[in-house]
Amino acid sequence: MLPEVTATRYVTPLREGGSLPGIVEADDLGTYVMKFTGAGQGRKTLVAEVICGRLAQRLGLRVPELVGLQLDPVIGLSEPDEEVQELLKASGGLNLGMDFLPGSLGFDPLAYQADAAEAGRIVWFDALVGNVDRSWRNPNLLVWHGDLWLIDHGATMIWHHNWPTAATATTRPYDASDHVLAPCGPDLAGAAAALAPRVTEELLAACAADVPDEWLVDEPGFTSPDAVRRAYTEALLRRAEGLVDRVTIGAPTADRPSRAPGWLTGKPEAGR
Ligand SMILES: Nc1ncnc2c1ncn2[C@@H]1O[C@H](COP(=O)(O)OP(=O)(O)O)[C@@H](O)[C@H]1O
Ligand SMILES: [Mg+2]
Repeated sequence: MLPEVTATRYVTPLREGGSLPGIVEADDLGTYVMKFTGAGQGRKTLVAEVICGRLAQRLGLRVPELVGLQLDPVIGLSEPDEEVQELLKASGGLNLGMDFLPGSLGFDPLAYQADAAEAGRIVWFDALVGNVDRSWRNPNLLVWHGDLWLIDHGATMIWHHNWPTAATATTRPYDASDHVLAPCGPDLAGAAAALAPRVTEELLAACAADVPDEWLVDEPGFTSPDAVRRAYTEALLRRAEGLVDRVTIGAPTADRPSRAPGWLTGKPEAGR
């Protein structure tokens, strides 16, 4: 279960990403990044955020705390932006909140060198959930108090958009050539040895149990929210098996940031 709080004030939209999340304050005096059920990407994005966010946390990676965020659209009445108004109106009820990290910076490979062990764990995790959104174009990684924090797991587990194909989709290779941490020399073997044994059915079921029923009901082909939870658990369990052999890190694509020191070698250039 996710802890549940109620939004009390809509502060401002966040426009960097594609889904127009908003910063809100809540009745526990917390400040959250709110992901809306009424956003065009749909509720599966929120399911992915919960399962992957909780999984990453349970594997010891840093992800800001997740909460269920109750919204009464009336709190946005004075918000001048029509797009925001529409989003709030379409999102009454339960939404997803992620603890807002004040003063965090977007990850910049020019300014921050991740160590090989941590880079390996993050790339291995992204391969597990099939995350396509951690590239240097769109890192979805924050640096806060000197540490790396993972955000935005909405574009993962592509197989949940077409469940009948899940069995074959979960065995697909993962090409990490454009992963934002590829230049850090990720220690994939070390990460797999440390993390794969921890990805058990029990752990995955606990992550799926954190997803609220109302985001899982009426999923075509399933009779209950618990049946959908089992499908997520099975898919990720299957994917974890032998995963490291299916991850490749090749040369990054030609349009990589040309000035990134050490992009190919993983070592910063002298004197920069
Ligand atoms: N927990 C957070 N703390 C601080 N800033 C955040 C947090 N979550 C997201 N952001 C900022 O908001 C932007 C958009 O959020 P993100 O979750 O990536 O949504 P989108 O689906 O729109 O890409 C991020 O790129 C980041 O700059
Ligand atoms: Mg994003």
